[in-house]
Amino acid sequence: MGGRLEGRVALVTGAARGIGRGIALKFASEGARVGVMDLDEIACLGVVNEIILNGGDGIPLGGDISNPKQVEDAVKSVRLKFGPIDTLVNNAAIMPTGRLHETSLDDFEACVAVNLRGTFLVSKAVIPGMLELGKGAIINMASATGVRGLPGLAIYSATKGALIALTRCMSTDYAKKGIRTNAVAPGTIDSPMLEDFLAMQTNKDRLRKDFDAMHPIGRVGTIDEVANVCLFLASDDASFVTGSTYEVDGGLISKGEQPQD
Ligand SMILES: NC(=O)c1ccc[n+]([C@@H]2O[C@H](COP(=O)([O-])OP(=O)(O)OC[C@H]3O[C@@H](n4cnc5c(N)ncnc54)[C@H](O)[C@@H]3O)[C@@H](O)[C@H]2O)c1
Repeated sequence: MGGRLEGRVALVTGAARGIGRGIALKFASEGARVGVMDLDEIACLGVVNEIILNGGDGIPLGGDISNPKQVEDAVKSVRLKFGPIDTLVNNAAIMPTGRLHETSLDDFEACVAVNLRGTFLVSKAVIPGMLELGKGAIINMASATGVRGLPGLAIYSATKGALIALTRCMSTDYAKKGIRTNAVAPGTIDSPMLEDFLAMQTNKDRLRKDFDAMHPIGRVGTIDEVANVCLFLASDDASFVTGSTYEVDGGLISKGEQPQD
């Protein structure tokens, strides 16, 4: 175990699987005590068990980030067990697909409720404790598609772009209070979300190769590659970094419209 987050109390949302789980395990392995929040309460328990087996500490928090009461309860539970949260990763999200005119109002509402309202609610519940402490690190999980256009992801992309704007404003509002706020914009990451997306497609194998080829580095990213950047942003190594959006995307955002090779 490393000690880059020794003494920290972290909350990671959407931490039952995928990137969130990877971040929760990484933070715990660096000394943070971690609130593992997700809709999937049983899976949260599994992640906390993994943390404890590896010598760390955590608390499972079944709950919906778009529900104010459940968010308040989760934040209170962490505070009771470990003290005020000083490190927050707003990671939970859903990704309805389709062009705008094909997206149902229900999908639109659900996507905004989880990706934007959820980030708002969790941050709103956590920030007063950070203000009391006079320090904090917040990481909002955006996406490459919040920066550049990718087909079939209109509403998801809009929420991710909103998170980048939110990150900039939060950073200016709280910089003098010792709270740093940054965003991470991953390209395609090998994760259950990608598997779910591919499972819905008829040409799964070709599409998977297309995803690899779409990234200038020649492959999709790994969960650990995203968790490593979150660790940096959460840690004191990033003490002068706030309001930034870190592109963890194998060059996807910078690529523009280059000819295929
Ligand atoms: N996987 C990728 O290629 C990719 C690329 C760019 C950005 N991202 C972003 O990274 C983050 C994690 O992605 P992932 O691939 O691990 O996704 P995932 O679907 O594997 O995991 C998301 C987790 O969030 C939870 N969740 C969903 N709605 C929730 C709610 N209302 N309340 C609490 N928990 C909820 C889910 O139960 C799930 O465990 C997301 O913000 C996603 O938009 C992922």
